[in-house]
Amino acid sequence: MKPDTIAVHAGDRKRTGSFVPVTTPIYSASSFFYNEMETLDRVFANEIPGQNYARYNNPTTNALEEQVAALEGGEWAIAASSGMGALHLALLAALADRRKSVVSGQVMYGATIRLLMDVLEPAGVAAHFADPNAPAAFEAAVAEHKPGVIVVESITNPMLRVTPLDTVIETARRHGALVVVDSTFATPLLLQPLKLGADLVVHSLTKYLGGHGDVLGGVIVTREEFRPALQSISRTVGGVLGPFEAYLAMRGIKTFPLRMARQCANACRVASWLAQHPRIERTIFPGDPSHPDAAVARRLLPQGLYGAMVSFEVKGAGKEEIFELVNRFRMIVPATSLGDVHTMVLYPPMSSHRDLAPKHRQRLGISDSFLRLSVGIEAPEDIIDDLDQALGRA
Ligand SMILES: Cc1ncc(COP(=O)(O)O)c(C=O)c1O
Repeated sequence: MKPDTIAVHAGDRKRTGSFVPVTTPIYSASSFFYNEMETLDRVFANEIPGQNYARYNNPTTNALEEQVAALEGGEWAIAASSGMGALHLALLAALADRRKSVVSGQVMYGATIRLLMDVLEPAGVAAHFADPNAPAAFEAAVAEHKPGVIVVESITNPMLRVTPLDTVIETARRHGALVVVDSTFATPLLLQPLKLGADLVVHSLTKYLGGHGDVLGGVIVTREEFRPALQSISRTVGGVLGPFEAYLAMRGIKTFPLRMARQCANACRVASWLAQHPRIERTIFPGDPSHPDAAVARRLLPQGLYGAMVSFEVKGAGKEEIFELVNRFRMIVPATSLGDVHTMVLYPPMSSHRDLAPKHRQRLGISDSFLRLSVGIEAPEDIIDDLDQALGRA
């Protein structure tokens, strides 16, 4: 063979022998074939599981999907290129043969509100908002708007309301709606919404599951019955997770339960410390007995696992004072994400909820003195020391 041909073929396409790699490798191939065309034909026909084209399937991504489905206690999972991609896919599949109307929790991640109002509404899906923590008003909104789908966050971003998923699911059943739960903040360690009767659970892999601030991804965990719709839309629209990202997410998830337990314990300490600090106007933490959803948290969350997010307001601070305070942090990372091993602080009016009208933000309770802390796995004393020195001069 000539060098041109050798360069293309040598070393590649080995038939797998009997060795087993201890972790799933990164399969970066964009397509796959079998010894016989008949096998590939059966894979295309969905008669047997297998690989054909990377927009349809990928062994690394499939391994991650299996891992997350098992953690979440679901039958089947499908990954997407981001948490928002997963949420979009979940809503499209859930709405496929249902009334094009959604009732959403009213305090949600900013991009989720925009997905509903700026993407789905113009495409003919009516979006309505109601407070799931006010069950009677929520049920009235569901009765009025007859949604095909209800979407809520199990712990909301950034107000940290704990959604009474059990009552939301009962309401949905009574009115024939499906329930999509964004459980990014709660994670499978705190809550398994499918076991409570939810239909589709969405996670941003970017956050606690990935956990190291090095990957963007999303995943939907659900029952087998939603597989055809989800696969069909994902394969057509193509917002799939690549194998490099799937590998990183899978690697991160191996230590997820250890990290999350530590982060939750650290958050309990940080929240109690903040609550008694004279510069703090109010602290929001689901483990706090005075949290408005303390009873829901006791009912739905395991003792001591209240999540690792703590929101707080700094007395009398506006944007300028908040920026000064954040600039003083020496260890806490002022970056736009959450759930990483390192503690992070975010100013929602500047980032996650920036595109909402100021009035809308105020209505959600996100004031100009509001900060959201994602507590990491560091020694809790070091997190508190950094908060102390930064707040000291606030
Ligand atoms: C609750 C929640 N859901 C979904 C997302 C979107 O995740 P991604 O950035 O992976 O698209 C975020 C991002 O911050 C989030 O906080």
